[in-house]
Amino acid sequence: MKEKQIFFCDNCGFESAKWQGKCPACGQWNTFVESTQVTGKKTSGKVSGMQNMQVPPSFPVTLREVDTDDDERISTGIGELDRVLGGGAVVGSLNLVGGEPGIGKSTLLLQICNELCAFGNVLYVSGEESRRQIKMRADRLGVTADNLFLLAETNLEKIISTTTDISPRVLIVDSIQTVFNPEIASAPGSVTQIKDSTMAFMQLAKSGGITIFIVGHVNKDGAIAGPKVLEHMVDCVLNFEGDRSFTHRILRAEKNRFGSTNEIGVFEMGSNGLDEVPNPSQLLLSGRPENVPGSCVACVMEGSRPVLAEIQALVAPTAFGNPRRMTAGLDYSRSSLLLAVLEKRAGYIISNRDVYINVVGGLKIDEPAADLPAILSVASACTDKPVRSDVASFGEVGLAGELRSVTGAEHRLSEIKRLGFSKCIVPARGAGKMIAPAGLEIIPARSVSEAIIKALG
Ligand code: TYD
Ligand code: MG
Repeated sequence: MKEKQIFFCDNCGFESAKWQGKCPACGQWNTFVESTQVTGKKTSGKVSGMQNMQVPPSFPVTLREVDTDDDERISTGIGELDRVLGGGAVVGSLNLVGGEPGIGKSTLLLQICNELCAFGNVLYVSGEESRRQIKMRADRLGVTADNLFLLAETNLEKIISTTTDISPRVLIVDSIQTVFNPEIASAPGSVTQIKDSTMAFMQLAKSGGITIFIVGHVNKDGAIAGPKVLEHMVDCVLNFEGDRSFTHRILRAEKNRFGSTNEIGVFEMGSNGLDEVPNPSQLLLSGRPENVPGSCVACVMEGSRPVLAEIQALVAPTAFGNPRRMTAGLDYSRSSLLLAVLEKRAGYIISNRDVYINVVGGLKIDEPAADLPAILSVASACTDKPVRSDVASFGEVGLAGELRSVTGAEHRLSEIKRLGFSKCIVPARGAGKMIAPAGLEIIPARSVSEAIIKALG
């Protein structure tokens, strides 16, 4: 066995023989950490900590021989989670659940144990909480299954040997940052440790047909701390979003080898754990002020589901120097572009004013369909005229100030109608073909200025 000193970028996992101030891969400064890499015979191609595992021999088969029925799924008992996973957790898959500390990762995973226990043993490994703490939480969540095993352990070898003993159908590891392999010299939570443990869990999942959920804490930039490197190794990356100050949480699939990545699951944190929110639009719009300037309702598609959200804007005179721009929930560059279009194409002078844009409820929108409502909201804030409260909108804005149609118009319109709106401003192109549900009036607009006139009246 040979030991070698190498350096890792703590942010993206880039490996280098020497220390560097700036990571050439992700461009972050001061992220290099030193680590000892053990190379040599002992691990001989297998991930360390895996010596006791039986890996089935591999042989080639033709495409036709592959049995696709193998994609067996198990339901977690939580509809929203099943949807994000693409219809339940795939047997033998490795799923990473990311999110900021305190957002509810442990709660969600403990909560699904009850249902998962119906399929066989479940092993819940925690490196963060004691068995007593987990028991107390389980009591609160109403988890009572007899074949749920708890293990407070951080040593990878012990976790793997316990797994081989109990042979669970589902293994939950909370969190990957606490797991360490004593054969590797670097500290728990370092990129080497995280990579090694994840590889070990991957082999465990594939060879034993065990469905594994691992928790990964996310740093403040939103990247899964250190183990951005994990993302390409695992089958699914589920990310918990939302503000801890709100009660609701959004679970999004960032990557899914077995389903779509657009789906979101919405939950509400209550006194007995996370509750599903089957009707997120209603939740996101609750408490919406009526007939107040600087607010417009957008309809965005989150996967197959249309979701309504309120986009708020505030325009204020700049006290001194450069005007401030702040966005929450919308892409910053996209918002700057929209403000430029509003100024240049619709004649609203905002270059000497501060602009704040916020999507209420902590939803992050990255769909161009939110362009039009965002611009309407800023225009409304600028003129101090409210957008009528029974009006919603969607549409992409082009640089010439033209409105472009977006996909899924029918779905959006029916959701807008369902939530009680009576008018919807849409891009004129394609509006002729739209079939509006009875009681909803479609207001087509060709350009940003036309839409503003129609919205503000
Ligand atoms: P937790 O699952 O521990 O977060 P993570 O594992 O992502 O770090 O969630 C903890 C938060 O949720 C904590 O602030 C308390 C709150 N909570 C409730 O409001 N109700 C509950 O029933 C539970 C179990 C937790
Ligand atoms: Mg936790």
